Amino acid sequence: MASKQAASAIKPADRKKILFVASESTPFIATGGLAEVIGSLSKTLAATDRYDVRVVIPLYSDIKAEYREHFNYLGNLYVHLAWRNQYCGVFEYVQEGVTFYFIDNEFYFKRPGCYGYFDDGERFAFFCKSVLEIMPFLNFYPDVMHCHDWQAALAAIYLKTNYCFKPEYQYIRALFTIHNIEYQGRYSLDLLNDLFDIFGGYRNIVEYNNCINLMKGAIECCERFSTVSPRYAEEIKNEYYAHGLDSIIRNNEFKLTGILNGIDESYNPKTDTHIFANFSADDFSNKAICKRELQKMLNLPEKPRTPIISMVSRLVSHKGLDLVTAVIEELLQDDVQIVVLGTGDSHFEGFFRDLANRYPDKFSANIVFSGDLSRKIYSGSDIFLMPSKSEPCGLSQMIACRYGTIPVVRETGGLYDSIKPCQNGYTFANYNAHDMLYVIREACADYQNKGTWEKLMYRAATTDFSWMRSAKDYENLYLNMLKN
Ligand code: GLC
Repeated sequence: MASKQAASAIKPADRKKILFVASESTPFIATGGLAEVIGSLSKTLAATDRYDVRVVIPLYSDIKAEYREHFNYLGNLYVHLAWRNQYCGVFEYVQEGVTFYFIDNEFYFKRPGCYGYFDDGERFAFFCKSVLEIMPFLNFYPDVMHCHDWQAALAAIYLKTNYCFKPEYQYIRALFTIHNIEYQGRYSLDLLNDLFDIFGGYRNIVEYNNCINLMKGAIECCERFSTVSPRYAEEIKNEYYAHGLDSIIRNNEFKLTGILNGIDESYNPKTDTHIFANFSADDFSNKAICKRELQKMLNLPEKPRTPIISMVSRLVSHKGLDLVTAVIEELLQDDVQIVVLGTGDSHFEGFFRDLANRYPDKFSANIVFSGDLSRKIYSGSDIFLMPSKSEPCGLSQMIACRYGTIPVVRETGGLYDSIKPCQNGYTFANYNAHDMLYVIREACADYQNKGTWEKLMYRAATTDFSWMRSAKDYENLYLNMLKN
């Protein structure tokens, strides 16, 4: 990227206009990694001064009041969706150079949480239609409309099936980013006209395997699509990873790119106010305090030389928990302490609670979702386990690195792209519990060698996972899309 001085020479009117369309964004509402990407990437691009970056998300009732009360009401319009004619309020909030728009409709969004309702298809169809309808209202037509995941897929589909014939919309390019191919937005074909407002010849665009498949539709419609790591972009061409979409990915691979996410600068052990003591890559000595206090807090014996292996994860199968449950009792025979944080499938939750009862001195189960505790765990443990079956990018392994906690990961997706053996972590290739156990034991043995371990901690903590690095790749992609 050019220097800030050179960049600020760009006149505001010459900045490329980027509109992110997504279902969540930090700091307003977050259920997972997607929100972090939207919040962080948008502000990093805006900070270059070369882009006018705007983000549009639904106005969920769970959006924190501390932000909500500062939102600026811009007005309202009515949005047609098949036979429906729905109210659409537009609120605005500017933060760190990024303009956020919030689509208000209480019928659709005044509910707890973001997803999981019987009418999610209709809710996000309304949201996507609104995104296109508010453009004349705001007099803002982006150069690139960057849509994320299936909830935003219809924005790309409506653009190419309905709107691009109007002069103001004709130059908008659509980029679609897949954060997880597992969630595709599949619906019954009966809903095509009445709910999604898609007619006639356009049926082929969204139809797949006798269903509506919104992700497939967006892949067909967009100029380019991307995933959140280069390795995952390769993996989803194969049946094993593609959840049925591999042939669509292969047919469209000429427009596919993989760009590894970054992590936010707020994950910094030097300044993090959630952790017991601050430290940095130049001086890890306070990490020992973080470890001791974590052991105290979780009622584990205070043993400074026993490695703490941690997992901060949704407790679902594709995070590799089948491997963990298969060999954890073997591992617990060694001199280790294991800490798990997260919620998810009840059988995993029960399994970990049971282990904590049986091994109170060695195993701590924290079946909650807690940002505060997660940072205490990242900073206070020694080894971070992430043996995912598939992982589009993964943020936790990068966060662990920043806190000098060495990841043990399976070589898949973003884990493969971010963690390199001997440099900043340990890896294993096959989805096999004993391969994993072998590598964990290797890490535990190296942990006892202070010299080796300190070098590894330093390299992990100084690996470049900044958003600046990813933003450069996105810039290249946008500029490439705008060439023609
Ligand atoms: C999804 C993926 C995760 C990725 C995140 C942000 O949650 O499962 O791997 O890090 O999106 O792109």
